[in-house]
Amino acid sequence: MNLRTSLRELPENKLFQKGDVFVLFGELFDRGYANGLVEQARAAGLEIIGFTVGRRTESGELRPLTDEELATAEARLGGRIINVPLMAGFDQDAPAGGLKPQEIIGQLTLENWKDAKFDWDYLAECRKIGVDRFRSSAKEAFAKLADMVPEDKNIYFAHIMAGGVPKTKVFLALANRIYKGTGPRFLSSNDFIASDLGKLVLQNFEEVTANTFDCLIEGTAAIRERAEKNGKQVRYSAYGYHGTEILINDVYEWQTYSNYTQGYAKIKLEQIAEENWEKGIKATVYNCPEIRTNSSDIFVGVELPLFSLLLAMKKEGGGEWVDKAWNVCRGLLREDVSLEMLLEKTQTLNASEVFLKNRDFAAWPTPNAPDLAETVIGVSREITQLHQSNHALITDNLSALVVNAAGMLIFKDMSEPEGPVVWLNHDIVAKQLIESAPKVSL
Ligand SMILES: NC(=O)c1ccc[n+]([C@@H]2O[C@H](COP(=O)([O-])OP(=O)(O)OC[C@H]3O[C@@H](n4cnc5c(N)ncnc54)[C@H](O)[C@@H]3O)[C@@H](O)[C@H]2O)c1
Repeated sequence: MNLRTSLRELPENKLFQKGDVFVLFGELFDRGYANGLVEQARAAGLEIIGFTVGRRTESGELRPLTDEELATAEARLGGRIINVPLMAGFDQDAPAGGLKPQEIIGQLTLENWKDAKFDWDYLAECRKIGVDRFRSSAKEAFAKLADMVPEDKNIYFAHIMAGGVPKTKVFLALANRIYKGTGPRFLSSNDFIASDLGKLVLQNFEEVTANTFDCLIEGTAAIRERAEKNGKQVRYSAYGYHGTEILINDVYEWQTYSNYTQGYAKIKLEQIAEENWEKGIKATVYNCPEIRTNSSDIFVGVELPLFSLLLAMKKEGGGEWVDKAWNVCRGLLREDVSLEMLLEKTQTLNASEVFLKNRDFAAWPTPNAPDLAETVIGVSREITQLHQSNHALITDNLSALVVNAAGMLIFKDMSEPEGPVVWLNHDIVAKQLIESAPKVSL
């Protein structure tokens, strides 16, 4: 049984017009998925309004952007930014005089983290303080937004927040072992999430990656109702990840990166969309392909499925633009390496036993495993070395193309989304790329 709703046909924008409003819930940084969506909103003539995560002072207090930072952020966005710090999560929130969860984690060592037991009543207090802080800042920001949004325009809200990694030495060392460790440096993701530390980190992920979507939908109810009363429509999109169908031996097959520890929070994000959809609110999570961004670079090997996109482009029609894209990729490889050889390597890998046993949709997010880590990390490193420079990788190019295509697909599809959770697989990304033929350059 296919449990997934996937976008199979290129959508059309039947709703958004010049003068409508696009609201980005999260701060725009280079490279990330949101850039593709903002580009589409800009091209369609929507007014763009954004938010900021704020910055921290030396003593760790959250503060708004300075005038200079605000000007830079607004120039990058191409719109106005509501300058109220919206940093989600509770890793740096605590009752007055008490230790912050980040400080509690900071006291652990690589020797004792596994058996460390936390005071969950105290951490629940910290969580409540963090959630209340975020919700009250969001309320203030939404009140400003209500004054900025015209009453007679359609509104597109785009949620992009994902994260919640506590910045402590011990956690970063453990993350390195879960996502980059092999042999004696391998750490089981199941062991990690079974520990109190793992449970705390998952709670923080849930606050940042999932519950902020709920906060957005709930906190903008008045703006939504006002627009709807005026005959206008409101949409909410969010970026999910729940594996992707890629071309393996000429058939589109679902596969996933493992262990995607944020996966539990992404499942909650999907549930939030489903609950709101049932209430008649058009909220859709788009599960997007694996790409390389500032946030995903920690997951070594997450980029490997991207190579199959080159094959999908041929299967979905090929043509002059696809040949050009292939040639651009070819040009990044060492002279003694052919693109065909590299693709054969990734296809063999995708069809290998170690990958096949990881392909359990019902068990997602599947744990990491020593043999999987060894293979994924080994091949990822090996492929990087086949390039002329590790600062210009084929997967950088392909990531940029996917960001562009996903932006077009999501923006257009949001005028009439099929459901609360929609997968964008390599077939539709390839079709979109062939149709729009974005600029590809070395
Ligand atoms: N990179 C991938 O392979 C991939 C695949 C599928 C889906 N996605 C999703 O796409 C979205 C954008 O991610 P991206 O990979 O493009 O990277 P990104 O780094 O550009 O985006 C991450 C966003 O999360 C925000 N954020 C991080 N911590 C936050 C916090 N504590 N409070 C508030 N905001 C916070 C950042 O400001 C940024 O806007 C995310 O939801 C991500 O999960 C990424």
